[in-house]
Amino acid sequence: MIPYGRQSIDQADIDAVVAALKSDFITQGPAVEEFEEQIRATTGARHAVAFSNGTAALHGAAAAAGLGSGDLVVTSPLTFVASANCAKFVGAMNAFVDIDPQTLNIDVERIPEIADALVAVHYAGLPVDLDRLSYRPRIVIEDASHAIGATTPYGPVGNCARSDMTTFSFHPVKTVTSAEGGAVTTNDPELAASLRRFRSHGVVRPEGAPPWYYEVTELGYNYRLCDLQAALGTSQLSKVDAFVDRRNELAAVYASGLRDLPVTTAPEMRVEGRHGRHLYPVRVADRDRVATELRSCGIGVQLHYVPVHLHPLYREDGWTDGDFPEAEAAARELISLPLFPTLTAPEQATVIDSVSSIVREDALQ
Ligand SMILES: Cc1ncc(COP(=O)(O)O)c(C=O)c1O
Repeated sequence: MIPYGRQSIDQADIDAVVAALKSDFITQGPAVEEFEEQIRATTGARHAVAFSNGTAALHGAAAAAGLGSGDLVVTSPLTFVASANCAKFVGAMNAFVDIDPQTLNIDVERIPEIADALVAVHYAGLPVDLDRLSYRPRIVIEDASHAIGATTPYGPVGNCARSDMTTFSFHPVKTVTSAEGGAVTTNDPELAASLRRFRSHGVVRPEGAPPWYYEVTELGYNYRLCDLQAALGTSQLSKVDAFVDRRNELAAVYASGLRDLPVTTAPEMRVEGRHGRHLYPVRVADRDRVATELRSCGIGVQLHYVPVHLHPLYREDGWTDGDFPEAEAAARELISLPLFPTLTAPEQATVIDSVSSIVREDALQ
């Protein structure tokens, strides 16, 4: 089966993890600091705080922002559920704004003025145009789980030029992996300090206190990354430009190979910058049949995503079918085609040929 995503691990990654394993620290230690330094260098943000995964990073960002009961947190319905769950984690309320079908991102022109916070998800790696927000809520968090290495007219995604914080996931299907892992970047030193406390049980070490003394000043979690993961993350991050360039090359081959078919190819950048290309989502009619046939040809396509508001957990809050028609229409038609740096030209040709014969057959019926 050609998967829709796959990590690219080379000998340098393996050597980095083995070196970390042989060092004094295997939990959070100097390799985590080095990883954070490299995330700062890659994004241009002043602070980076590594987390155990992208979900923990979103939880940390929502908590550090002071979101809680009575706050309304808006996000896209077309995302992984963690982008919305971060509001629930802190007792805030969820709201959604439908997507713009041209970008598959949240429709930036419909952000309601009652929103306290926006979680702007850069779907498939295409940066949300934060210069076009119809309303800028008090807190703006970018969920850049799909978009490490992407750039915008206002610089690299993660520099927080138009947001308070940006979160990342380093899960293996993402562009850069630390096995499990995540991070939050910010330019605000107080948010950074709050994120560090939250990541580690709310512990503080008062100035002048002996080295064995610490106090717990607030509720925190154990959301730490370990040095083995961080060593992998640092090694991977050194290749981010090559990974993203290769993903964009493969995307260009898909765009031209699928051009004359009844397929809506993945959205392109509409402003200056580089697409992050975590996914290559296309829209097809009769998606379930196309997806089933592709899978039976050994092509592991995937749906990104079941709209968040239609999950049973969210239906309990009163959301229902028809609430966000553009996201629902997209979700009925989307399939993510295989996209990862080591996808070979013959493998990609097989994907294009298979899609072509299946959708042509469909069109004839
Ligand atoms: C948009 C988005 N947000 C958040 C997450 C959560 O990241 P993680 O799986 O590292 O917890 C993911 C990962 O699947 C994601 O795609």
